[in-house]
Amino acid sequence: MTAPLIDPFARAIDYLRVSVTDRCDFRCVYCMSENMTFLPKKELLTLEELDRLTSAFVRMGVRKLRITGGEPLVRKGILTFFRAMSRHLDTGALKELTLTTNGSQLTRFADELAALGVRRINVSLDTLDPDKFARITRWGRLNQVLEGLEAAKSVGLKVKINAVALKGFNEDELFPLLDWCAEEGHDLTFIEVMPMGEDMSPLRLDQYWPLKDLRARLATRFTLTDLTERTGGPARYVRVEETGQKVGFITPLTHNFCESCNRVRLTCTGELFMCLGQEDMADLRTPLRASADDSVVEQAIRAAIARKPKGHDFDYSRQRADGQVSRHMSHTGG
Ligand code: 5AD
Ligand code: SF4
Repeated sequence: MTAPLIDPFARAIDYLRVSVTDRCDFRCVYCMSENMTFLPKKELLTLEELDRLTSAFVRMGVRKLRITGGEPLVRKGILTFFRAMSRHLDTGALKELTLTTNGSQLTRFADELAALGVRRINVSLDTLDPDKFARITRWGRLNQVLEGLEAAKSVGLKVKINAVALKGFNEDELFPLLDWCAEEGHDLTFIEVMPMGEDMSPLRLDQYWPLKDLRARLATRFTLTDLTERTGGPARYVRVEETGQKVGFITPLTHNFCESCNRVRLTCTGELFMCLGQEDMADLRTPLRASADDSVVEQAIRAAIARKPKGHDFDYSRQRADGQVSRHMSHTGG
C-alpha cells in the first residue's frame, strides 16, 4: 500500500464514486434532456482501464467504492468490472462496494451483484404512481423497477430509495412513500433538486422543494429524532420514532457539508472531479494511457487531490441558480 490520500484541508479521501457510463435507459427531466448526445465509445475508458485506475485509488486508501452512471447497469460487460472490484473486497482492501441505480436492470443483475459482495444499493425512485413515474423519467416503466426491487430484496440486498423532492410533483406522496418503504424494509432518503445542466434552471427553481419544508411536513405526523451519524457526505438522518425508520435528507443547497467531505468522483472518460459543485477536474486518462507503470497515474491522482477545493458555491437564494455547474448529473454520477 502507498501513502493515503489527504487533501489540503486535512480530509482523508477514502470514498470514490465511479461513473461507468454517461448513458441511461431513462431520461429523468431533472437529469437529462430528451435528446442527449452521449460520448462516443472511443472516449470511454475500457473496463480494463477502469479497473486499473480504480485499483490505483484502492491502493491509495480508498475503502468505499460506489458505482454510478448514467445507469451503471446498461454499460456492456459491467459484471466484469464488478468482478474485478470484488477481488478488493476479498483481500480486505475495500470495505464496501455499492451501486446507485435506477433499478431497471435489477431483475437481470441482482443475483450476481449479491454474489460478488454487493450488500447495499441505492435505487432512485421519486414516485409510486405509474403515470407520474413515466412523466418524470420520460422513458421508464414503474413496474420494471418494482420488479427489480423485488429481485434485490429476494437476494438480500439492502435497498435505500433516493427520491428527488419536487414541489407540485411528489409533495402529495411524502407519507405514502414513507409507508411503502416501511412495508418493504427500504431506507429512504430525500434529495433536494440541484442546479445541474444548462437549460432547466427555470423548471428547477419552480420545483425546488426545500427539505426544511419537507421535514416540517413529516413532523406534523411523526416524531423525528436527529441522528448524529454522518457518512462524510451531504446526507443527514432522522429516526421516525413511531415506525423506527431512518430517513435521510440530502441538502446540498441549504447546508454546508464540505468540511467533512471524504470523496472524489471519477467519470467514465477518466476525469476526476474533486468537488461536485466546481468545474475543476483532472484528466487521469492521459497519464493512465501514457505508461503501463502505475506510478505515473498515482502521481496524477496525488496532484489532483492536492487541488481539492474547500467547498462548493451552490446557492438558490438570489432566485437564480448561482454557482450552477454546466455538466449534467449523469456526467459525474451524483
Ligand atoms: N438534482 C438532484 N438529484 C438529481 N439526480 C439526478 N439529477 C439530479 C438533480 N438535478 C439524482 C437521481 C439519483 C441520483 C443518482 O441523482 O435522482 O437519485
Ligand atoms: Fe438515468 Fe438516473 Fe439520470 Fe434518471 S436520474 S436519467 S435514471 S441517470
